[in-house]
Amino acid sequence: MPSSIRFLGHAAFMIESGDYRVLIDPFISGNPSAESAGINAEDLHPTHIVLTHGHEDHIGDAPAIAKRTGAQIVAPYEICQWFGTEHKHENSNPGNPGGGVPTDFGRVDFTHAIHSSSYGGVYMGDPTGVVLSIGGATIYHAGDTSLFSDMKLIGEQFRPDVAILPIGDRFTMGPKQAATAAEWIGAKTAIPCHYNTWPPIEVDVSQFSPSGIEVRALGAGESIEV
Ligand code: NI
Ligand code: MN
Repeated sequence: MPSSIRFLGHAAFMIESGDYRVLIDPFISGNPSAESAGINAEDLHPTHIVLTHGHEDHIGDAPAIAKRTGAQIVAPYEICQWFGTEHKHENSNPGNPGGGVPTDFGRVDFTHAIHSSSYGGVYMGDPTGVVLSIGGATIYHAGDTSLFSDMKLIGEQFRPDVAILPIGDRFTMGPKQAATAAEWIGAKTAIPCHYNTWPPIEVDVSQFSPSGIEVRALGAGESIEV
């Protein structure tokens, strides 16, 4: 069954396959890219919400969307715990890097990411990347991270079809490092994210040009099929 990947601005994506709608890092309200594309959190109806780490620009609207929809939170252990204690949302599926969890749509594996993870000063566990197995496709969202050589291992272990990579520099890889990441991961298609949302992470996306990899730089609201 084919899947579609829709970019919602910054690091937020909606991945749909059959009856499942998987929302990743849903920072919508206050996200200039999402807002200028007319995307509203209230219009999103996920069955699952996958969170890579605890920063405000990734947790975003997740508490409100989870409350409205009852969607399952798939996230690092401490984030799931926080949803239980802070938001009384118990439908969660926790993991940590190196492990994976079964889901209704397939599976989410958590990978290493080199970054930090807190929310309002509260420790939110280790930051992660996620590998989604959904509808016969394998999609790696690297979360916020530096370049690290174990991305080669992620490529070998999971053989992703699509790699979603931050390229905005300052808090994550810049475009040249992200191009190396894409080559190491070896997915056929790479989607850049986490850039040009605000001036501090403005970069020239044309510098993200991994050799032998198809780059799909999506505008907010645009989608591809896999
Ligand atoms: Ni972050
Ligand atoms: Mn971020």
